[in-house]
This record gives sequence, C-alpha cells and structure tokens, in this order.
Amino acid sequence: MCGMKLWVAGMWLVSAVTAEGDVPGLSLRELAASRGTRIGAAVNADALATDADYRTVLAREFNVLTAENAMKWAVLRPSRDRFDFEQADAIVAFAEAHGMAVRGHTLVWHNALPEWLIRGNYTREQLMDLLREHIQTVVGRYRGRVFAWDVVNEAVMKRGALRDTFWLRGIGPEYIDLAFQWAHEADPDALLFYNDFVAEGGGRRSKTLYRFLEERLGRGVPIHGVGLQMHLSIDNLPRKRCVVAAIRRFESLGLHVHITELDVRLRTPASGTALERQAQVYASAAEVLRDCASCTDLVMWGVDDGHSWIPHFVDGWGDALLFDAQYRPKPAYHAVQKVLGR
Ligand code: G3I
Repeated sequence: MCGMKLWVAGMWLVSAVTAEGDVPGLSLRELAASRGTRIGAAVNADALATDADYRTVLAREFNVLTAENAMKWAVLRPSRDRFDFEQADAIVAFAEAHGMAVRGHTLVWHNALPEWLIRGNYTREQLMDLLREHIQTVVGRYRGRVFAWDVVNEAVMKRGALRDTFWLRGIGPEYIDLAFQWAHEADPDALLFYNDFVAEGGGRRSKTLYRFLEERLGRGVPIHGVGLQMHLSIDNLPRKRCVVAAIRRFESLGLHVHITELDVRLRTPASGTALERQAQVYASAAEVLRDCASCTDLVMWGVDDGHSWIPHFVDGWGDALLFDAQYRPKPAYHAVQKVLGR
C-alpha cells in the first residue's frame, strides 16, 4: 500500500549509506552529467547577487537552476504595465555563464500574485488577456534559454477537484489548457511541466494527478512533463517504491518527470541521527535520478540551510538541504555523491 508512512515504522527501502563518503572527489554536477542527468537548486536572487560563497557552491555542484521567486508574478509584475526582469535576468545570465540549464518557475500559481492583479476586479476577458500577455512576454523573453517551464503550479486538490484559486474563479477551468497552449506558442521547444506536491506518496494521489494529466493530454494540451515537488518531512515520508511507481505511471503517459523542489526538513537543531536519516532519504532520491530513465532532473529547493524557505514558514523545522548554513556539505551531500558515483 502506498502513501505517506511514519518513519518510525522503519518501513524504508533505503540504500545503506555511510556518512563520510569513500567516493571520488567529483562534484554532484560532474557525477550527474556523466549519467546524462541534471542536479540542481532553487536560486535565491539576493544571495546570488551578494554572496560569493553561495555562487561558488552553486556553480561547482549544480548544472540546473530554478528561480525560487524571481520568475513569479509578484517579482516580475510590480504594476499592471511594468515588467521587472532584473532578478530573473541575473539568474539566467549566471546559469549561461556556468553552463547550467534553467527551469522557469512559475507562470500560473495562486500564490505570489501582486496586489494590483488580485484587487483589479478584472473581467474574464481581461484576465485572459493579462495571462496571455504574461506568458507570451516571459516565455518569449527566455525562448531558447529556459529549457523547461513550470507552467501551472498546484492546481489540483488531493481528491481530483481543481483548487479554488484566483485563476479558476476568474477564467474558469480552461485557464490550465490555455496557459500551456500560450506557453507552447511562445517557445515551441521548451518542455512544459505541470508541477505539484499532490503525488508525492504515490497511491491514490498520484492516480488523481495521472487522470488530470491524461484527460488534458487526450485533448492535445501540450504538457510534456510533471514536476514532483517533494517537500518532505523526516517524520512523514513516502515509500521509495511508491514514488518510483508514480514515476512509472507518468512515464506511461509519455511524460518527462522532474523532482523539482526536494528538501527534507528536520526538527531544529538537527541531531546526528536525524542528519543520517536525512542522508538516507537523499540517497533514495539520488537512486531515483540514477535509475529512472524518465526522471532526468533532481532539483533541491535551495542551496544551503541558511537560505531555505522552511524556517520562515514551518516553525521549529529546517536543516533540510545538502549544505549547512556555512556551505559545509552534510551527510546528505555525501550520500548523494556516493549514489551518483557508483
Ligand atoms: O522579497 C520580499 C522582501 O522585499 C520583503 O521585505 C519581504 C517581506 O516579508 O518579503 C519578501 O518576499 C518573500 C519572498 O519569499 C522572498 O523571500 C515573500 O514574502 C515570501 O512569501 C516568499 O516565499 C516564497 C514562497 O514560495 C511564496 O512565493 C518562498 O521563498 C519560496 O521558497 C516558496 O516556494 C514555493 C514554490 O514556489 C512552489 N512550491 C512550494 C514552495 C514552498 O512554499
């Protein structure tokens, strides 16, 4: 049976990992690239602009980047008639200077929307024009430079109903199809992803997402991939075999699969035992990247624990990434390096 299981059940199918890797000194990006895959991180635009150590780790360890916030409406659209691409351009320029791919995130989401949009009392036609203009402008700007877009983020509820969002209320359910069609028109070569957290544990939730995607693919909606966010808590983890089963399900639809936002939060300050458990979880994710042909990208939602969103949103939790706040590799880093180095 698939679904979220308590760790205490000890029911993991995990790899046996030693904390200190007896692995080659290759970086994660070298190891991932040697397998034709990508390993990446969500980028904090402020840290990128101000912290040389952050930039060093980013360029050394990762070959794909996602803008954590810089490509969201709230940042790109300070007002109805103005786009602000400063942060997004800096991230894309850094990626290109360091031979990294870029995932765009995200064109349509119910969060990170600017007040002028939310409070604009726009008609359905006006909202469609605004959304079309946004997608065509943003995707068009980065045509050929952003290889994949999270076009729609978190639009489906666990039991299959569409999430009651600003876009659903303003345009109707067709906003999803339209967003993908407009993105495809703006960059026919970009891989267009639906991104969500509902399918983490496999089982019923991934079947919900499967049906959601199958229905739209059947209508010819240009969806090329599914992003599995994977924001995990050490106390409530999916079984690895269920995640793999879900990936196989999406693969059967002909979809690419990216793990798009992996972090494994621990109660803080994290104990040595918790860090070792975390390493096993990251090792399992690295095994998915290594062993599932349709899963080509594994992106962590941040570079280091000092720039993680989690402490700001989940009180008492954090220490969720591969590097600590001083950019020291944690057991999780060595675990990933060991798996990719085999
Ligand atoms: O930049 C402003 C700053 O000028 C201002 O002083 C401050 C006041 O609070 O806000 C700052 O913006 C914050 C932004 O992060 C940058 O730090 C926003 O308030 C805050 O809401 C925003 O949170 C982001 C959140 O998405 C909402 O957009 C998190 O960093 C980001 O990690 C998180 O990422 C999401 C993915 O996009 C989708 N999947 C879930 C994931 C985690 O929630």
